[in-house]
Amino acid sequence: TTRTPLMAGNWKMNLDWKQGLALVEELGETLKDVDTTRVETVVLPPFVDLRTVQVAVDAGRLPLAYGAQDLSAHESGAYTGEVSGPMLTALGCTYVAVGHSERRQYHGEDEAVTNAKVKAAFAAGLTPILCVGEPLEERQAGTHVTYTLAQLEGGIEGLDAAQAKSIVIAYEPVWAIGTGEVATPDDAQEVCAAIREALRALHGDEVADAVRVLYGGSVKSSNVVELMDKADVDGALVGGASLKAEEFAKIAGYQG
Ligand code: G3H
Repeated sequence: TTRTPLMAGNWKMNLDWKQGLALVEELGETLKDVDTTRVETVVLPPFVDLRTVQVAVDAGRLPLAYGAQDLSAHESGAYTGEVSGPMLTALGCTYVAVGHSERRQYHGEDEAVTNAKVKAAFAAGLTPILCVGEPLEERQAGTHVTYTLAQLEGGIEGLDAAQAKSIVIAYEPVWAIGTGEVATPDDAQEVCAAIREALRALHGDEVADAVRVLYGGSVKSSNVVELMDKADVDGALVGGASLKAEEFAKIAGYQG
């Protein structure tokens, strides 16, 4: 594959600013020996930790890209509690997660909201990491591919080819998130390949062959190699394991 692998650490709602600062300092050390240009390495901290990350990156102490876990669909104004895309861009963010299953599940974000946020991200100059993936019932019913592709198509509706080409898709089966139950490499490959074929049908070869499709769900250094071995898995969206500096550095420095 000619696609640059991408490892993104989603800290979720963990680490206050002091704890965030501690992890940033540790990551600066553990990532020293990792080639973060061979494997693009990204962290998605809580909003309150973004400035800490920005300062470390700007000072040359942290060799990675960063972004937020969510953004508002609106550009500015009377949306109490929200954070806009332009605010993230001003902080040096280049990525933003959109439609994480926890946003869909606990904050009622449907496909229309997700699509609006994907567009808001592009409007602000950010690269969305659009998260898709099925709950356990859909997996058990054998409808996981159809379910996941519907989320994909809803999420990217209305994008132009340049936007579609630069988006990152993260396939995260809900039953594998935070459960320690990782999908088998074949399960991950099945859906990641289906995502790429859907992109091919909608936007053609150039887009399909360029888009990074990540797998997420209980990824750690001990299972990342076998997942990355699969043709259509281009990286990982890492939750729990991204809170440990050594572990995340091992994931970013994996050798395929
Ligand atoms: O965004 C990350 C995923 O939800 C995976 O979380 O690695 O803790 O299972 P996890």
